[in-house]
Amino acid sequence: MNTNIEPELYTKPASTEIDSQRKSPLVSETFTRVTDQGPISAYDPAISRKLMEGICGLSTNTLVKYEAEGLIHPQKVKHGGLEVVTYRVTDVQAVLKKRGTQFKKGKSAEVISIFSQKGGVGKSAFAQHLGSMLSLVGKVLVVDLDSQSDVTSLYGLNVKFTDLVTEDAELDPTIAELMDWRLKDGQESPYRRMPFESVVKKISPTLHVIPADLDLGEINYSLNRLPLEDQEGPDGEVKPAILYMIKDIVDKIKDQYDFILFDCPPNIETCNVNALFASNRVIIPLELEAKCLKTMRRNEDFLRRLKDIHAGFAWDKILVVPNKFKRENIKIKALAKLQDIYFERTDVHLSQAVFPNGAIIDKCSEAREPIFSVATKYGKEFKASVPQAKEFTNYFWVVMHEILDAPIEHLIFPDNSDVEA
Ligand SMILES: Nc1ncnc2c1ncn2[C@@H]1O[C@H](COP(=O)(O)OP(=O)(O)OP(=O)(O)O)[C@@H](O)[C@H]1O
Ligand SMILES: [Mg+2]
Repeated sequence: MNTNIEPELYTKPASTEIDSQRKSPLVSETFTRVTDQGPISAYDPAISRKLMEGICGLSTNTLVKYEAEGLIHPQKVKHGGLEVVTYRVTDVQAVLKKRGTQFKKGKSAEVISIFSQKGGVGKSAFAQHLGSMLSLVGKVLVVDLDSQSDVTSLYGLNVKFTDLVTEDAELDPTIAELMDWRLKDGQESPYRRMPFESVVKKISPTLHVIPADLDLGEINYSLNRLPLEDQEGPDGEVKPAILYMIKDIVDKIKDQYDFILFDCPPNIETCNVNALFASNRVIIPLELEAKCLKTMRRNEDFLRRLKDIHAGFAWDKILVVPNKFKRENIKIKALAKLQDIYFERTDVHLSQAVFPNGAIIDKCSEAREPIFSVATKYGKEFKASVPQAKEFTNYFWVVMHEILDAPIEHLIFPDNSDVEA
């Protein structure tokens, strides 16, 4: 038995002296590991024992047993003069494998579009937190399809100091550079073609991102305007290029990933149609507000029309997730109505998780940090954030299971009793 392992989850700081030196509470508190290549990203965090127990649904004793067996390899991380026991994502995945826990149905990736034609409903926030949470249990590719590049910057990419000081800042490659822009009559495409490896950004061993940049704004225009050459499928069937631009990319890489997530822009243009065509699951975040029923009707009508247009549109699950709930009459009524409408539906499901309107989402967005990391912080200044981060982590955990049709056997933070109702 390895006696170097601390059975405690954390050792609390003896004094709060270090707290006063922190500039931005959520940023500096992460257990940043420094390697030969520099500091490791917030999306490749050292995972606390508490979080490890929560994800795997196991007791400290079982983890200690796995450590002794050499299945997992705890690392002690210096944290404000303390040593804290932490794990890597590879340890989490080794335990899940040993326990036979599976989130993915088949061999190739589950492909999920986070979609709504309405803006500001939480698509990018969901892509940030579902993507990072899924990267704990499998290998994830997040594709930013929105020229606003929100999820790209939420993952800490594309925000370069040099962009501010040089006039000719170079645009990063995006999904457009991965598409096959073969044009009719040998016409030359205006897009450069790049290999997948040159476009993908690896922000952790299990979390990869295809970024967006401003020039992606043109993509719908180009898809509609350029004379794309249709391809032929293996049985001689015509594959309309206008539908297959993203699916062809996905088909080439879907054996390398467990989950592929699209952060869709708030429209119903060609690029979005392509993402939905390549997906087998759809999450629709829905802001609870006066018009939310209309928004849902529009989203549903659109998805139905797509199915009518082409047999290839087929989703294993469409999940509506209520977001930004507040105890206000209008929101309570909207939620009750939604529950009424979706109670007996089998084609579209309503999530059990109702995400409150919470400041933690903006905090994580500012700090570019996954919510589950914030949930395991300690110290005076986190008193307000931690319960909410735990609550939201539990909700994302529920949504992750629901969209993948995986049974929810436990919550990550089952004893989160300090959250105010
Ligand atoms: N549950 C929530 N509580 C509080 N704020 C939230 C919540 N969910 C999202 N937000 C905030 O709402 C704003 C819009 O969210 P987000 O950018 O994720 O929406 P979006 O659907 O991706 O928007 P767009 O359509 O413009 O891409 C952001 O400031 C985000 O931090
Ligand atoms: Mg967005």
